[in-house]
Amino acid sequence: MTPTTTLGGGVMEHFKTPFGLSDLTTASSIDNQKFFTNTLRTSKNHRFFTHPFMSTFDRSPPSPELASFILTSFYKIVSPFTGLLCLLGARAPNLRSRFALMDNIYEEMGCGDLQSAHPSLYLQMLASIGVRSESAEAAPTLPAIRMINSHLREVVEHGDFAVACALLASAEATIPSSFAVLARMAKRTFDSIDMTFFDRHGPRDEGHSDDAATLFAVSGKSSDFAIAEAAVRLDLEYRSQLLDEWVLAATQGSTPRRVGASVRPGATRDSAPPPA
Ligand SMILES: [Fe+2]
Repeated sequence: MTPTTTLGGGVMEHFKTPFGLSDLTTASSIDNQKFFTNTLRTSKNHRFFTHPFMSTFDRSPPSPELASFILTSFYKIVSPFTGLLCLLGARAPNLRSRFALMDNIYEEMGCGDLQSAHPSLYLQMLASIGVRSESAEAAPTLPAIRMINSHLREVVEHGDFAVACALLASAEATIPSSFAVLARMAKRTFDSIDMTFFDRHGPRDEGHSDDAATLFAVSGKSSDFAIAEAAVRLDLEYRSQLLDEWVLAATQGSTPRRVGASVRPGATRDSAPPPA
């Protein structure tokens, strides 16, 4: 099933939409939609979307050690995300907004199957390339990932709910392009890698982005605009810095010793050789 429908379109992936046309045709909702559509469109000009990382491994495939390092480091983005979504749900101003967020949370939670919750799927993927879950948990968090997560947490905990939804919409909108690169790199490097995590991402995240944008439309106000725009820009900058870190690791050399010697001894130490 490819979920691309949106709240405003009347259908979410798992839950029945709590919003109707009347919610999306108020004057403020229309203003909010115009603003945020433009914000997301403009954000596509950010360097994140044309970062050299997007094509680095098309020209020269990474070593298994480097690919393992990149995939292991990204676990620190995947791992806290369900908690942040639940925090956002707790801050929803009403039942309908909270209900709408649950569609995304339900998907992240494996549709009721713990083994299919996205952090579980990610660990299964790492296990299939020889990285144990204990090692993934213990691996150092890259500086850029710390900034991405602390910014998300700050906005979700202390920002306006609508601004946090705008940030969520933007973050989800980065997934199709960047995850496609990670998935391609993973598949090319490890023949027998478990790709279930990546199979559940892509068009589905465009739907989540649309849904979060709809939440901004129904709950935002014009005084949120500048703050939301700044939050989106900052998140993209931090995500670009993560790509910078990965490209730096790639250009520094891909042997375990060099990658490990740069900043990630834990990730390298914990990475097992790829399957033959
Ligand atoms: Fe996910």
